[in-house]
Amino acid sequence: MVSVEHDKTVAAMAREEKTFQKAHPKSKRMFNQAKKALMGGVPMHWMTQWASPFPIFAKEGKGCRVTDVDGNVYVDFCLGDTGAMFGHSPRATVSAATKQLRRGITMMLPTEDSIWVGKELTRRFGLPYWQIAMTATDANRFALRVAREATGRSKILVFNGCYHGTVDETLVRLVDGKVEPRTEAMPPPVDPNLTTKIVEFNDSDALRRALEPHDVAAVLMEPALTNCGIVLPESGYLDAVREITHETGTVWIDDETHTWCAGPGGYAKAHGLHPDMITLGKPVAGGIPAAAFGLNKEIFDKTIANMLQPAGVNGAGGTVTGNALALAAMRATLTKVVTNTAFHRMISLAKRFEEGVQRTIRMTGVPWHVIRIGARTEYQFREAPSKNGAEAMAAADFTLSRYMHLYALNRGILLTPFHNMALISPDSTPKDVDMHTQVFNDSIEEILA
Ligand SMILES: Cc1ncc(COP(=O)(O)O)c(C=O)c1O
Repeated sequence: MVSVEHDKTVAAMAREEKTFQKAHPKSKRMFNQAKKALMGGVPMHWMTQWASPFPIFAKEGKGCRVTDVDGNVYVDFCLGDTGAMFGHSPRATVSAATKQLRRGITMMLPTEDSIWVGKELTRRFGLPYWQIAMTATDANRFALRVAREATGRSKILVFNGCYHGTVDETLVRLVDGKVEPRTEAMPPPVDPNLTTKIVEFNDSDALRRALEPHDVAAVLMEPALTNCGIVLPESGYLDAVREITHETGTVWIDDETHTWCAGPGGYAKAHGLHPDMITLGKPVAGGIPAAAFGLNKEIFDKTIANMLQPAGVNGAGGTVTGNALALAAMRATLTKVVTNTAFHRMISLAKRFEEGVQRTIRMTGVPWHVIRIGARTEYQFREAPSKNGAEAMAAADFTLSRYMHLYALNRGILLTPFHNMALISPDSTPKDVDMHTQVFNDSIEEILA
């Protein structure tokens, strides 16, 4: 079988790093300055995780392109790791947000836009009641809180390989059948054995066993895993999740933050799922921080309905949550940016992206595969698609990934750090996609054994 050679990869990486250094003198200077005041030299530590020796400093993002401070222009398939899935600074969002900036950013008063947004979220995602949050992390925290209140249970369940934001009890892995804190995260405040159960994706027997004691408030899941490479649900698996959560009185929370890439109403709408709660965030306001969580009538009646007046603090939200700017941006984004037409274009180009990668894998003979959910495509360093998080995580190859990413970056392509993932925006073009196919092919040919 054809394979790639580690030593060749390391040597090619060293050359790519030199190339990168030469092309980014201003970014380097800024990084050195920033290190004096910012932890790790960046405002958020993920920004150090690009494959380059230091991050490129951005000057501008527009549509599917990013220009850095050294004047290099990139075709962006990272798109802010989904925050800009519908393109950087979409015109309609910018226009609505600019108007709102002059009319009051945050007043702790509802605006008319909020009514429209609530109704639209119901129309798209099917759940009757919604609340705004600032980030998807927030939305997940609040959803878990509501589920605990609704069930009177304290534990939650997540899947091996998951990521749902910096929600303490979800930063876990399944190790030798036990729940363990993720080793790279700061230590959890509470032993995850007290808060969390964890099972493998696509294993309905394990899920049933975990929920049978009736002590789990909520199953928090992506309908397809996207944070350890893409893992698709096997046929009938999500029906089993619905059935088991129903039978055990467990709330099923569907985190659509990434899987919204499946279509205008997310994976749930595209595949006819009926979760009890849905969370989403990242691109919902075109990149302006905003998120939302929705729930069914039964949970609403058991919880929030009784808390609204005059509770003061119900445990979800904060001072600037649901601000006028975010709602204006959400309304414009949902009306004019996240349209059926946009999705049609994104998905058909993502198919082209997938086919290009697939063709290269076949022609070079490397034992990899490529997989896609709507506008999101990812290749993994194993021959067959992964069945669960353990398989997907075992296929990760840090050195190889970094080489592929830096090779692409040096040739004008941004891929998402910590994933081999590409998102197609409504502004991406066939030429952009074909450029990726060529660069992907060239990067592999250099390191073949
Ligand atoms: C599925 C999922 N949910 C929630 C989050 C948290 O999003 P944020 O970091 O914007 O709070 C992420 C982040 O990557 C995610 O992948």
